Amino acid sequence: MLQLTGITKTFFPGTVNERRALEDVDLHLAPQDFVTVIGSNGAGKSTLLNVVSGSIRPDEGTVMIDGRDVTRLTDFRRAAAIGRVFQNPSMGTAPHMTIEENLAMAMGRGRRRLLRQAVTKAKRQRFREELTVLEQGLENRLTDWVGLLSGGQRQSLSLLMATLSHPKILLLDEHTAALDPQRAALVNRLTSELVEEHRLTALMVTHNMRQALRTGNRLIMMHAGRIVLDVAGDRKASMEVADLMAEFEKIKDAELSDATLLQ
Ligand SMILES: Nc1ncnc2c1ncn2[C@@H]1O[C@H](COP(=O)(O)OP(=O)(O)O)[C@@H](O)[C@H]1O
Ligand SMILES: [Mg+2]
Repeated sequence: MLQLTGITKTFFPGTVNERRALEDVDLHLAPQDFVTVIGSNGAGKSTLLNVVSGSIRPDEGTVMIDGRDVTRLTDFRRAAAIGRVFQNPSMGTAPHMTIEENLAMAMGRGRRRLLRQAVTKAKRQRFREELTVLEQGLENRLTDWVGLLSGGQRQSLSLLMATLSHPKILLLDEHTAALDPQRAALVNRLTSELVEEHRLTALMVTHNMRQALRTGNRLIMMHAGRIVLDVAGDRKASMEVADLMAEFEKIKDAELSDATLLQ
């Protein structure tokens, strides 16, 4: 479904600010794989998602979606295949448009369209049904400005918007990190429900190791631009946070001994 091969990305190459964000990354996702992504700051997690969405073009390597090479397609040309939710609740929604206008816009995503789509009666009915699932009373607030909603409500709406046009792949970049624990738990539950309902293939970056272990069917850990751990199925299900920490320590130790050998 999604196949990344030999992906390398360096920011500001050849300067003092050179940052190697991804280093020869191979990743193959089967249809309906729900992969959680962990790793320290600067490990390359967001860059990986940006390469999938097309907002960053890799220096080397190929991105295939459903057998089609999309490496050279812009993010706009890939939009129909990809839904995204970011960490900042204000990034996925338009504050000066109403809830129903935001949903209408999301429905037309990836197609040629007028920005403000007419909201028909039939669409309105569908929006009400979809919003009811969020269990936050938003189905009764179709004509309220999105800017009036709380962070949790906006993130729930972003999630709904990202899945409304039936993308193939859902990308979530720490989308619950800015929320309080209760709201984060709610949005996390909604995420799993929507992924299952729409049979999506998903990549979810999270700082929360427990959440990473309990969500999805597969987990990858990134470090210094590489995928250093890839566990799925029973092995993932039986892992605890302490096991993940131990894996991370092993990688750090190996790195240190490499550095010593090179001296
Ligand atoms: N747009 C950018 N311009 C320059 N450097 C970047 C950019 N995006 C990421 N980087 C650098 O690439 C590396 C990986 O960043 P990122 O993918 O954001 O990591 P993560 O999401 O795991 O914290 C970091 O060293 C970061 O500073
Ligand atoms: Mg990031």
